[in-house]
Amino acid sequence: MRITMMMTQQAQPSLLQIPTGGMNFPMIRCHPQKEKVVVVMGATGTGKSRLSIDLATRYPAEIINSDKIQVYEGLDIATNKISEEECDGVPHHLLGIVDPEADFTAGNFASTASLTMKSIVGRGKLPIIAGGSNSFIEALIDDQNYEFRSRYDVCFLWVDVAMPVLHRFVSDRVNRMIRDGMVEEVRKMYNPNSDYSKGIRRAIGVPEFDAYFRAEYSSSSNRQNRGKLLEQAINETKINTCKLACRQLEKIHRLRNVKGWKIHRLDATPVFENHGDEADKLWAEAVAGPGSVIVNQFLFNFGHSRSFVAATNSGTFKRGVAMAATAI
Ligand SMILES: *[C@@H]1O[C@H](CO)[C@@H](O)[C@H](O)[C@H]1NC(C)=O
Repeated sequence: MRITMMMTQQAQPSLLQIPTGGMNFPMIRCHPQKEKVVVVMGATGTGKSRLSIDLATRYPAEIINSDKIQVYEGLDIATNKISEEECDGVPHHLLGIVDPEADFTAGNFASTASLTMKSIVGRGKLPIIAGGSNSFIEALIDDQNYEFRSRYDVCFLWVDVAMPVLHRFVSDRVNRMIRDGMVEEVRKMYNPNSDYSKGIRRAIGVPEFDAYFRAEYSSSSNRQNRGKLLEQAINETKINTCKLACRQLEKIHRLRNVKGWKIHRLDATPVFENHGDEADKLWAEAVAGPGSVIVNQFLFNFGHSRSFVAATNSGTFKRGVAMAATAI
């Protein structure tokens, strides 16, 4: 999947052109206005993609993937890549573009994402960085030369889900992946000499199936044994996904509590404890609505009358503000 779709909205205003008003301080005069960027964080399965697409339909925005496995081409089911339909016309970058055998480091991410952000800003749009690899986000934002922070103002959103609830969800998600053809997808990548420390083969759901595929190759294994190995592989995939979610959460806590990043937490737990329309309603109330309000304040310095007037002069932004204001 490679996505570089054009947005259908026309006449989008440039974020660059929005005056923030009243900036007569000498200090500000020597520093040009910083660009803005939104970062959507959260453990696997919490709904980062959903929130970033919700935001991108309210503001002129493009999304940069910051999941270290989803950058690779291939394994769309196992790596849970969003479909073109789910993208809803929002351009996505750094998704499924790297050779599966190559190594794509946090440093590679930082430099590629920086260039992509520049081009998004150049198109007058808001870059939204979304993905679970906090090491990638950290490498981008806390670069050695303080370049990122001197160029961009960042708004961090964190979609949080209580761990036991999330564990249940991601385990069910593994079952859905299996049903959708994950075993066949991973089998195509199998090679008895695979190096699971490189490229896309590091993905959860690849090394876990090694013993099972190995048994398929071996003439001495019987069907019953293979069935057990398959069950074991699925179990391990679930366990390792849950472990990943815990590590991701710990990392977010560290960035927030130790590094002092100002991360806004949005609790999506009730969404995951409900289904259907009720879950959608709770998503709007607990996640998308409050998330939009935070982004509004960040973009338009909400409450500052001059910038608010400037921002609402544009139809798209007016709609965004109105939607966010009615969402809670
Ligand atoms: C897989 O997990 C289930 C549920 O936890 C357990 O009952 C089963 O014994 C496990 N199977 C294997 C082969 O480990």
